[in-house]
Amino acid sequence: MQVTGSERRCLAVVLAAGEGTRMKSSRPKVLHEIAGRSMLGHVFASVQEAGISDIAVVVGPDRPDVEAAARARAPNAALFLQKERLGTAHAVLAARDALARGYHEVLVLFADTPLIETATLIAMRKRLEAGNAVVALGFEAADPTGYGRLVTNGQRLNAIREHKDATESERAIRICNSGLMAIDGALSLSLLDAVDQNNAQREFYLTDIVGIACNRDLSTSYALAPEDEVMGVNDRVQLARAESLMQDRLRRKAMLNGATLQAPETVHFSFDTVLGRDVVVEPYVYFGPRVSVADHVVIHAFSHLEDTVIEPKASLGPFARTRPGSHIGASAKIGNFVELKKATIGAGAKVSHLNYIGDADVGAEANVGAGTITCNYDGFFKHKTTIGAGAFIGANSSLVAPIKIGEGAFVGSGSVITKDVAPDQLAVARGKQISKDGWGASFRAASEAKKKAKE
Ligand code: UD1
Ligand code: CA
Repeated sequence: MQVTGSERRCLAVVLAAGEGTRMKSSRPKVLHEIAGRSMLGHVFASVQEAGISDIAVVVGPDRPDVEAAARARAPNAALFLQKERLGTAHAVLAARDALARGYHEVLVLFADTPLIETATLIAMRKRLEAGNAVVALGFEAADPTGYGRLVTNGQRLNAIREHKDATESERAIRICNSGLMAIDGALSLSLLDAVDQNNAQREFYLTDIVGIACNRDLSTSYALAPEDEVMGVNDRVQLARAESLMQDRLRRKAMLNGATLQAPETVHFSFDTVLGRDVVVEPYVYFGPRVSVADHVVIHAFSHLEDTVIEPKASLGPFARTRPGSHIGASAKIGNFVELKKATIGAGAKVSHLNYIGDADVGAEANVGAGTITCNYDGFFKHKTTIGAGAFIGANSSLVAPIKIGEGAFVGSGSVITKDVAPDQLAVARGKQISKDGWGASFRAASEAKKKAKE
């Protein structure tokens, strides 16, 4: 019986055993981030979105951080150690036990090729399903130097020749090998086990399975992807280029989903940023991870947001900063130079100018005056501030937490509030004003006389 479509079990083998020396980093290369997610995480996401549930990750020795990241991202991923880097076929064979479990399809991916798209993986799977034993992923290189070349005959792939092993005429081929490959699962081990080290680099080339399959009269083919999608990241310059390509994708997605970006090239997204319809984002806005913005929200220029939920019709900034755990209610207003941290702002509340609101609940329709801050930290512990619905906090007040301001209460401006304020109470906590009539004139007269006496 022929097994089709989603019934075909597929294993993704993700190679992550590279040393990444050119990154000049204490962090493993594949854990460097693009749009707030590791390169490894991006590859996992594309794999999972392509309907592939089984993942094998091949890591190098002493990479506990890569293993931990892989486990965190895909708890059922199987991890395999490649002790020595003897080539890409050798790396895939490190996952022998996973391959031996028996799959209809095996996809080989590189953890340092993070921009690979789900649709491309699906296209490769389709070609396997159509009866090919091996499907390579090629691209037309602006400069093919260094890449393996696809030696093709129409849709048939006859061989992949590494640059160092290629003849002059093979080097003239512009269709290059991205390195990603799809292999018939039932044939995978026997093809890989036939690879030897007879080449210029004395490595076990994964690419050799194409020629081996052809010699066995099996069908082989290739798919094509844009060069940008299969770019590899080896140093920080390439990392920045990958980031820029990813940002372009995310901006496009946001705009096509109905958000207006006034200057898209200045807006920085995270992989998981969610923008609703008719959201307006002014220039120079930064979205860190875990931000979701509902419909009709306006984010004014130069705002910096992370881990924040924003309800419909709220507005933020310019120069607003929201830190983790912020939740901004519908039609609330967060103004300029306001910092929120672990703060829930109720619907219609206003926190408009120069505020720090941390570890706080601000009720609906409350008004927090300019310069007011929550004093949430005593040097050892964090404490909570609760401001009731409709309360009015006068400008330049300090709310010393833990503290509760009741619904509809008023706090006189300049107060340092250390005791709870009952609903509808007025609390004023500042030095009492002293007024002395004519004091200015008599002070001036006395001082001028003193000065004259000294001359
Ligand atoms: C490989 C392809 C080449 C293709 C190029 C695209 C082979 C033989 N050649 O060459 O046709 O044009 O990618 O960039 O496959 N890795 C391991 N263990 C190893 C060797 C490699 O995990 O022993 C991983 C690397 O970390 C990397 C990937 O496999 O993620 C590719 O290895 P790399 O050395 O960059 O391959 P190339 O020689 O560039
Ligand atoms: Ca190499």
